[in-house]
Amino acid sequence: MRMRPPKLVAIAALTFGLATARSAGDGDKLRDEAKRLFGAIKAVPQARLADPDVTLGHALFWDTRLSANGKVACASCHMASDWGADARRFSVDAKGKNTGRNSQTVLNAMLQPSLRWTGDRKSGAHQAEKSLTGSMGFASADVAVPLLKKLGYEAAFKSAFPKDAAPVSPANYAKAIEAYQATLLTPAPFDRFLEGQDDALNAKQQAGLKEFLNHGCAKCHSGPLLGGGSIRKFGVEKEYWTATKSEKKDAGLFTATKKEADLYKFRVSNLRNVAKTGPYFHDGSVADLKEAVQVMADVQLGNRLSDADAAAIVAFLETLTGDVPRHYGPPKQP
Ligand code: HEC
Ligand code: HEC
Repeated sequence: MRMRPPKLVAIAALTFGLATARSAGDGDKLRDEAKRLFGAIKAVPQARLADPDVTLGHALFWDTRLSANGKVACASCHMASDWGADARRFSVDAKGKNTGRNSQTVLNAMLQPSLRWTGDRKSGAHQAEKSLTGSMGFASADVAVPLLKKLGYEAAFKSAFPKDAAPVSPANYAKAIEAYQATLLTPAPFDRFLEGQDDALNAKQQAGLKEFLNHGCAKCHSGPLLGGGSIRKFGVEKEYWTATKSEKKDAGLFTATKKEADLYKFRVSNLRNVAKTGPYFHDGSVADLKEAVQVMADVQLGNRLSDADAAAIVAFLETLTGDVPRHYGPPKQP
């Protein structure tokens, strides 16, 4: 009698083994489709991290002294503990004001063709330079120049931009920060699956990937980041969400362009690390990922997801969680 429990365990293990073997066979077809729609990302080569523009951008990104009140750095609203986003619904800027929208993660963000919820910044440098008079609270971008010099940054700017006669400038501040952010890539189990490793996704996660495809999520969430604007490549026109759960409506892209056609439009979110970057949507109105998935099915696809399908999709989305890069933290003082 005593022998029975171990035997049962062995049988269960064998059945489980067969089940995974079977889904691995399916895995090839699933992988081919996933490779067609998405794409793997790779970590930046270690050597790049030592380049002077990257190390300068690293220092600037984490330096709270570079703000109007001396207390706010980029990292204040893009925290390492929150995978480069902010777990608060809104963040607090250098004037003590709440941001109008939820903070997005900077991890992998530089792979996107345009930035922010409305895609109104064309590059990381454009975004960073605008931050000086935005979140950082300076009256003008030029105010940062004497401050950078006073804080001893001149030598680092010189070595990062050796050809410039006046290397300490808002434009170079922005370029260095962009260079640093471009190194913040987070390969995840999903990338290993795309590259051929069957067991990088377990059976439930593979089932979730199938549901993601079956329900049409990839119509918008495609490309290597599963969204983030890369959708344009695939020629799908309806790329923006046009409904919002918030009581006080945010006019979206309209706020930047003032064109009626842009009312309530938002950039398709990228889904890398999404399990770690809640709360969700531009207004941070949904705290739970499963609920966010159900809202999407409902609003974008007019489609009710069963609880089991939503849970499977969440299990799949968790495979997009990579490690926070080791150099995403305050730089060590030399
Ligand atoms: C006070 C909080 C705060 C500070 C400080 C801040 N950000 Fe942000 N960041 C946000 C919010 C909120 C958004 C979304 C804004 C929007 O779309 O309206 C955002 C968006 C971004 C994005 C776009 C990500 C994407 O997927 O499109 C990048 C990149 C970024 N920030 C980088 C930076 C950098 C670099 C700095 C420092 C120069 C910085 N942020 C300072 C709150 C902040
Ligand atoms: C028609 C295009 C479209 C389709 C289809 C679509 N989405 Fe989205 N998705 C968006 C847009 C746009 C946003 C940003 C919405 C906002 O914040 O207002 C978004 C946001 C999200 C978010 C929140 C991300 C964040 O960081 O806040 C998740 C999660 C998500 N989508 C998952 C899904 C899933 C799962 C499906 C399929 C059931 C799906 N989406 C279908 C366009 C789409």
